[in-house]
Amino acid sequence: MSELKKYLDFLKLIGFDEIRLKEVGEVVTEKENLQEELGALKEEVLKCCKCRLCEKRTNVVFGEGDPKTNLMFVGEAPGEQEDLQGRPFVGRAGQLLTKFLNLFGVPRERVYITNIVKCRPPGNRNPLPDEISSCYPFLEKQIELISPDVILCLGAFSTRTILNLPERAAISKLRGKPQKVKIGKKEITVIPTFHPAYLLRNRRGEPEFQKDLEMALKLAGFM
Ligand code: URA
Repeated sequence: MSELKKYLDFLKLIGFDEIRLKEVGEVVTEKENLQEELGALKEEVLKCCKCRLCEKRTNVVFGEGDPKTNLMFVGEAPGEQEDLQGRPFVGRAGQLLTKFLNLFGVPRERVYITNIVKCRPPGNRNPLPDEISSCYPFLEKQIELISPDVILCLGAFSTRTILNLPERAAISKLRGKPQKVKIGKKEITVIPTFHPAYLLRNRRGEPEFQKDLEMALKLAGFM
């Protein structure tokens, strides 16, 4: 066993979960099992049939990106392209999201992208409350494993679910206002913003989305 491993074991024993090396923007953690644990969670999600969405799905869309990232994006639910490809945000809304990230020089592979609900609601209808509550424990576990400093919530469903807000909570009032939320053992900064699909219909929201994304990237140490 290396000296470093012994030291990390000792820190873990006395209650430290991770060490942050801010100057290099990396996290050195006892996360050796991260890939394995995330893989095991994915296997579980791929087999899930806790709600009706499993009946019509082509693929489960678990999520993708850098599991050691400081910044997670959480959308609503897979659309048609996502269902076909098994990957999040690869349709028109996803292309817009990728474009905005690239505008700030950040490839999407450096963040982690997922959704509240992992299977496509037929016809892209809104996810129903019982579908969200069946799927949320998977997201919660995913967030605990990835342990980001910042989550950018894309749209009202993601925002209301993660911030535990009532249905009437309007994204236009919440967007751009960071809030602290404890998920697992960690306090995470959650920033609500518009969903990219909304921006496809309302281009006037783009400057605000860009501002929210910039805030998230700054808080997560990308800029
Ligand atoms: N909309 C979402 O909310 N998520 C996706 O993955 C694609 C579109």
